[in-house]
Amino acid sequence: MPGDPLHPLALYQAAVQHPLSEAFFLARAYEENNDFKQAKILREDFCGSAAVSLGWVLTDPQRHAIAIDLDRPTIDYARQQIDAQPDNTADNVTLICDDVCRVCPPQVSAADIIASLNFSTLIFHSEETLLAYFQRTLNNLAPGGIFVMDLFGGDSAKQIGMQTRELEIDAIGTVTYHWEQRSYDPLTQRIDCRIHFTLPDGSTLDDAFVYDWRLWGIPQLMNLLRQAGFEHRQIWSDTLDEHGQPQGYYQPVSQIDAQHEWVIYLIAQKPNK
Ligand SMILES: C[S@@+](CC[C@H](N)C(=O)[O-])C[C@H]1O[C@@H](n2cnc3c(N)ncnc32)[C@H](O)[C@@H]1O
Repeated sequence: MPGDPLHPLALYQAAVQHPLSEAFFLARAYEENNDFKQAKILREDFCGSAAVSLGWVLTDPQRHAIAIDLDRPTIDYARQQIDAQPDNTADNVTLICDDVCRVCPPQVSAADIIASLNFSTLIFHSEETLLAYFQRTLNNLAPGGIFVMDLFGGDSAKQIGMQTRELEIDAIGTVTYHWEQRSYDPLTQRIDCRIHFTLPDGSTLDDAFVYDWRLWGIPQLMNLLRQAGFEHRQIWSDTLDEHGQPQGYYQPVSQIDAQHEWVIYLIAQKPNK
């Protein structure tokens, strides 16, 4: 990716995103729900740097992505990344700086896939606002289209504390990524999560990203998706090896084993007719 490797969004991407894998996963989830027909239009809600949208169009020039984020500097960064790509890649990504709740057809095409990744759906704190978002999502999908969101949970999700991981980044060296869960209120499910970085020179980038989320439960989300009109809903979970270690291959499940921490996808499909 071109640009400043010390930009917070570049560090974020190195720490928590795998755009090409995410693009492959989204394509597979659509195909498995649509008799192996291929998706063309991805709408990436809460797109951040639009890395997944870029991954989507880079893996097939017939594809188009609509990437939406509310934050102007973030969209400007995404624009820089996309414009730096060769050929006509940039023509295949529509970047929109707006509230995801305001963008709908005919301003944009109905999408085959709407993705809300890295827990972005958790910004909604009330049932009313989340239900309204799910209803708009259904309206913004083409027939047979899927909505994909991720969710984390397990005992560790409600524990206060910090996890750290070292990242080896070409051109700059070792950066330490810190994931902090600063507070969690079981009454409201409100969770304060933060990302910090320690840079190779020892300086720190505190509160590089701060999230005020509601850590919804799976049954709550499934129920709201149903109320929104999504008749067909699935949970996709990681495959575990014989030692209980995640393999990075998600598939639909009807139960989840108790684990200290888990990440799942909720996938909801708009009826074909
Ligand atoms: C957790 S980041 C997710 C970034 C990216 N989707 C990913 O997979 O890493 C959430 C993003 O949502 C954006 N955002 C928050 N509220 C929004 C809204 N109502 N409409 C559009 N974007 C919003 C923020 O600016 C931020 O870039």
